[in-house]
Amino acid sequence: MKSFIFLSVVTGLTAVEGYLQLPSGNTTFTQYSGCGSPACGVTGSGFTAAMNQLAFGSVPGLGAGDACGRCFVLTGTTDPFSPAYTGPFNSIIVKVTDMCPVAGNEQWCGQTTSNPINSFGTEFHFDICEDTGGAAAFFPSGHTALTGTFTEVSCSEWLGSDGSDLWNGACISGESATFWPDGVGCGNQGAYIVCLDVRNAVFIVTVDNKELRFESFQNFASESL
Ligand SMILES: *[C@@H]1O[C@H](CO)[C@@H](O)[C@H](O)[C@H]1NC(C)=O
Repeated sequence: MKSFIFLSVVTGLTAVEGYLQLPSGNTTFTQYSGCGSPACGVTGSGFTAAMNQLAFGSVPGLGAGDACGRCFVLTGTTDPFSPAYTGPFNSIIVKVTDMCPVAGNEQWCGQTTSNPINSFGTEFHFDICEDTGGAAAFFPSGHTALTGTFTEVSCSEWLGSDGSDLWNGACISGESATFWPDGVGCGNQGAYIVCLDVRNAVFIVTVDNKELRFESFQNFASESL
């Protein structure tokens, strides 16, 4: 029988390695409606979006991730289903309030640490909320899924206001955090589980259900315990 001492869920580490969180890059875009109960627990009256789970920084059931409240300028560049279409495309500024989970959205939001690109070759995805007008402002008529780019910007550039907390643990504080990859707003949830197998003297980090084992943990153990 093995005995484990669970030390902590290390949010400091998750911000660095458990998720893929960058201030700019290539991305895909889709749209969704029914944004009234977002994973961050705070709605926005302006343009909002859900981000793919690997960037969002949480897992279903654990609430807000470090993406919550961050603002991004989104720019469409290509319709992967109609590559001959050359525009015009649009740019909008959104605040992230929601997560696009891997489960059920593998094609767009299926990025994982071991395979960090989706079916369209991008590490990121934004699902833009229709309810508050973002999708209509972003997608050219008849083009409801695009590829393009994103860049993190100050939320002073975002037009809208935050709703009130929908539950305990709601968080939108990415809106005042330093940009990725350095700043931490709401923090991440769920990627790292650190434990110490005392009997077998192994330090184990579980990342997205995969175990990493370290045989030499004496310094870590003495500091952490
Ligand atoms: C984004 O896509 C363009 C065009 O395919 C490519 O040249 C560029 O390297 C990509 N940038 C990143 C950060 O992946």
